[in-house]
Amino acid sequence: MSVRPYVTLSCAMSIDGYLDGSAPRRLAMSNEADFDRVDEVRSRNDAIMVGASTVRRDNPRLLVRDAGRRARRLSSGCAVSPVKVTVTASGELSPDAAFFTVGDVPRLVYTPSEGERRLRARLGDRATVVGLGTQVTMAALLDDLGERRAVRRLMVEGGGTVLTQFLQADLVDELQLVIAPFFVGEPGAPRAAAAGRYPWTASRRARLADTQQIGDVVLLRYALSDRCDVRPDPGGTATADDAAASSERL
Ligand SMILES: NC(=O)c1ccc[n+]([C@@H]2O[C@H](COP(=O)([O-])OP(=O)(O)OC[C@H]3O[C@@H](n4cnc5c(N)ncnc54)[C@H](OP(=O)(O)O)[C@@H]3O)[C@@H](O)[C@H]2O)c1
Repeated sequence: MSVRPYVTLSCAMSIDGYLDGSAPRRLAMSNEADFDRVDEVRSRNDAIMVGASTVRRDNPRLLVRDAGRRARRLSSGCAVSPVKVTVTASGELSPDAAFFTVGDVPRLVYTPSEGERRLRARLGDRATVVGLGTQVTMAALLDDLGERRAVRRLMVEGGGTVLTQFLQADLVDELQLVIAPFFVGEPGAPRAAAAGRYPWTASRRARLADTQQIGDVVLLRYALSDRCDVRPDPGGTATADDAAASSERL
């Protein structure tokens, strides 16, 4: 039986599909209420993953913030916060990044086997470095998390390079997409999803399972596998045929 973790992708993007601006300072996409919702989702996962660029640019702590949620995790026998996970090919990660220094939780860094020893020397005891062949694939990474690290639920928070790989490889169970009420419009800014082939197309539509307004943003939840049991969209009966019919009417 597969022990591949249940994968939730979570990100916030502008109306025109950007995860961030191109200025040095990170653009806040979401609002406080949504950050709190994300904190709740974090608290229900065994591991949280971001790409190395996000570690470098945002310097995220990747911890559960709310004291009640931390206490709930402890009382159910979990660590206070989920395991932190990242992936790098260059090995350009500072051991002083908050990812490595904040919070008493295990950290995993996946990298091609070639650079494993060098990265281990750089990070010392601040992380477990895992070499995964000539090129790290998200499938191999999930297998390692499930089989060797006892991770049953993985939350992937970005950025776009990482999100794209999970989506294009059809490894996502649930997508939680927040739309911020503005445009970015900068060609150099990171997008949530890069060009390429995706399993969901106009003729194979993803299932919209739920929508929720949270202040000035909207949360869209897509069920991308049969393992996702979010409640069905009450009005969501549109099919590819309906869409084709409505585009003909325009
Ligand atoms: N709005 C949101 O919800 C949200 C969430 C997260 C991040 N962000 C934003 O997204 C931006 C970063 O996104 P991004 O697409 O540029 O980068 P990213 O996905 O965070 O990280 C990409 C990096 O991860 C490593 N990587 C990815 N796949 C790999 C693989 N298969 N094997 C080995 N290494 C791999 C590489 O690191 P090396 O370069 O070290 O080789 C690559 O350059 C930032 O601006 C951040 O603020 C926004």
